[in-house]
Amino acid sequence: MIVAANFKTNLTRKKTLNYLGALESILKEKNISQEVLVFPATSSLDEHEGLVTVGAQNAYATFNGAFTGEIGQEQLDEFGIKTILIGHSERRHVLGETQEELVTKFNFYKELGFKIVYCVGEPLEIRESGNEIMMKYISAQYEGIDTEYENLTIAYEPVWAIGTGLTPTLDDIQTVHQALKAKSKAPLLYGGSVKVANVEEVLSIENVDGVLVGGASLIAQDFAKMCEIAQEIENKE
Ligand code: 13P
Repeated sequence: MIVAANFKTNLTRKKTLNYLGALESILKEKNISQEVLVFPATSSLDEHEGLVTVGAQNAYATFNGAFTGEIGQEQLDEFGIKTILIGHSERRHVLGETQEELVTKFNFYKELGFKIVYCVGEPLEIRESGNEIMMKYISAQYEGIDTEYENLTIAYEPVWAIGTGLTPTLDDIQTVHQALKAKSKAPLLYGGSVKVANVEEVLSIENVDGVLVGGASLIAQDFAKMCEIAQEIENKE
């Protein structure tokens, strides 16, 4: 299973370093063999060795150049970063990234062999418009994306469940994941208000291959607990 933490605009460089140290020692102590990804803020990126793979929350589709405020492959390469999150709903809806821009970014980092965690998900008004409209909306987020890319992981994150404490029912997650698995065989994560208290039931759903955790990942011990629960589920299978 894949257990991923998205820090968003949280934690400083120093706090991230302490976090990764604490997380690594718990994972080692508990014999965790799950795939663990951590996406810190851009200013906290650094070289990291251990069980955890550190990835970038965002980067521009360029090696370097005149793109004020952005970082490119050269800045990621300095720290050996080969994993990137693309299409997160906050980048789509708050920062206004279009599908076209995301496709450009996807293709750029795909060419470089990056592991790409590509996010999809619907806002509340779309979900409330019924299943057909919702699936059409999510399908549009697959447009231009190579769903067979070998280093692809997809994360389904309903926008209305992010940071709200609201989660879809387990049946709803199962239904959407089943439909999305038909579009791509890539590992499929669920994200949106996942926490220690609900991670076991979420990870037990068919076609859920892992979780992408925001707010509840900010405390290393809590995130480590989620990795432990994932390990226990896999050991049972
Ligand atoms: P929360 O876990 O805070 O709801 O955020 C989910 C998310 O956006 C992870 O990318």
